[in-house]
Amino acid sequence: MTTIGNDLAWAATLLEQGKLVSIPTETVYGLAANALDAAAVARIYVAKDRPQFNPLIVHCANAEQAFSYAVDIPEQAYRLAQRFWPGPLTLILRKSAQIPDLVTAGHDWVGLRVPKHDVSLQLLQQLSFPLAAPSANPSGYVSPTTAQHVLDGLNGKIDYILDGGPCTVGVESTIVSFANEMPQLLRYGGITPEAIKEVLPDLVIYENKENEAPLAPGQLASHYAPGKKVIIGNLSQLLEKFAGKNVAVISLQQKFPQLDSSKQIQLSPSGIPEEAAQHIFRALRTLDKSDATYILAELMPEEGIGRAVNDRLRRAAV
Ligand code: TXA
Ligand code: MG
Repeated sequence: MTTIGNDLAWAATLLEQGKLVSIPTETVYGLAANALDAAAVARIYVAKDRPQFNPLIVHCANAEQAFSYAVDIPEQAYRLAQRFWPGPLTLILRKSAQIPDLVTAGHDWVGLRVPKHDVSLQLLQQLSFPLAAPSANPSGYVSPTTAQHVLDGLNGKIDYILDGGPCTVGVESTIVSFANEMPQLLRYGGITPEAIKEVLPDLVIYENKENEAPLAPGQLASHYAPGKKVIIGNLSQLLEKFAGKNVAVISLQQKFPQLDSSKQIQLSPSGIPEEAAQHIFRALRTLDKSDATYILAELMPEEGIGRAVNDRLRRAAV
């Protein structure tokens, strides 16, 4: 049995012992272990059933600590950190020798981030090491945005869940890599590409081609996937096409009077993209538990944080 609680000191004790604790962040809940302890990090891969080729993000208390685990840091990385940390941005930088190879799945590059969540920051400040933490879900499934979601997926496999309430951003961090000549955005997330381009006008957006190994190895085409089949499109047309079938619907704001209210979720009744991001994973989980056979969903406008929501929906639909 895994318990949920608010005991920071207990969480710190467990982490010092090399155990696994789920921590709240502003994006999604993470599954944390001492990033400098390879044996502890190995337990993360086991608990999540995560492929060993998929590296982990290292979470730090502040930028100074984060940069101490990287070498050859470009000036642009400092500028991004200054603007967006603490916050939903992960920087991929050349790793220092202190970071075990297991954290980076053998790469010379490490993902670093300072989360913007009081509970996690307090915990990180108490610890003498940073925390390696992927999202706290079984590999491939929908990311967790509440402590209960974590329990639903990992009960019995981890030692404690630190409850910090529902995540406010709701989609994972944006990943920017400095592993190539030009800075590259590898994953859409909580910081919009538009905001990053204000600091780095020459940012390259990396679009993963089908059948190509992704640069961020976790960005596999099928990911964030509920057990039910997810179909994306124009909802009115899809509802006609699926007439007579047991369907549930995720819309941005439109209501469908012909459907029972338990079979539809409006991500943001007032049409605010940030609110849609906050609720997307919860919506997928809720409808996955319903008796519907298909989950029909519409994409958000392709701008701002809507890109991150659409990216998650597309991968959920593969
Ligand atoms: O918001 C987030 O980033 C959350 C919270 C917990 O911080 N974490 C998260 O971790 O989303 P995870 O493991 O679910 O996704 C991390 C992504 C994966 O796609 C992984 O391949 C990529 O980051 N990544 C990590 N380190 C990398 C590296 N050195 N090079 C390229 N991609 C990397
Ligand atoms: Mg994940």
